Amino acid sequence: MKGRDFHLAKLIKRRIFAVENRIVFRMGKHVYLRPILKEDLPLMTIWINDPEVTQFLLVSHPMSHVDEEAWLEDLHKRKETNVGVAIVLVETNEIIGTMGLHGIDHRNRRATTGSVIGRKALWNKGYGTEAKMLLLGYAFNTLNLRKVCSAVLDFNGRSMKALAKCGYRPEGVLKEHIFRNGRYADEHLFAIFREDFLPLWEKFRKEVLGQVD
Ligand SMILES: CC(C)(COP(=O)(O)OP(=O)(O)OC[C@H]1O[C@@H](n2cnc3c(N)ncnc32)[C@H](O)[C@@H]1OP(=O)(O)O)[C@@H](O)C(=O)NCCC(=O)NCCS
Repeated sequence: MKGRDFHLAKLIKRRIFAVENRIVFRMGKHVYLRPILKEDLPLMTIWINDPEVTQFLLVSHPMSHVDEEAWLEDLHKRKETNVGVAIVLVETNEIIGTMGLHGIDHRNRRATTGSVIGRKALWNKGYGTEAKMLLLGYAFNTLNLRKVCSAVLDFNGRSMKALAKCGYRPEGVLKEHIFRNGRYADEHLFAIFREDFLPLWEKFRKEVLGQVD
């Protein structure tokens, strides 16, 4: 085999290995969801300290690797009520963020979602919406939840738009609820019910995931 062909064959072999050996919890078109692994923590620590990211979140303390490790351990311990997943690019298998279902209440069949795409250059590319559709598919079709909520600060138009694309609707506003960026921000509450999600899921399944009945 010539040098260039050998190099190409090696690349193909490496790609097949990467695809066959990846851990996939829910597969999408551009992103997939998988469990959060210990090796994700260094990148997650960078994101969770970045003020451009955290201004939109409830965390505001400096977070070390130790804090992140404790957070992951705690997530494992509270599996019944919390699901955390990594958002990973299909093409490269790189983690770009995390997403979760928190405070899962099995009696009332409710939970609250939270999302972070830590790689800021990848905001506004539809990855957050696709990942959220995959997570909601799991929430409604596997966990049998009935209602999924989300809370967004008033200056986070991007998050509100992404939620709207997944079918969330406004439920109310907590006035001047969170002190952020030197002012009190309103917290906007959103929710999606199972019956409103299912038609969107059918469309997503066929048009984005390319599934046929
Ligand atoms: C919120 C987040 C998960 C959304 O993921 P994403 O991949 O960036 O979102 P998407 O590309 O799927 O959708 C964003 C939409 O908002 C639009 N948008 C961007 N900025 C906007 C703004 N200021 N106002 C209104 N819409 C805006 C985008 O154009 C896009 O809509 P389109 O697809 O119709 O063009 C991601 O941006 C993120 O992690 N941000 C930082 C942390 C955060 O805000 N977490 C959520 C806390 S509630």
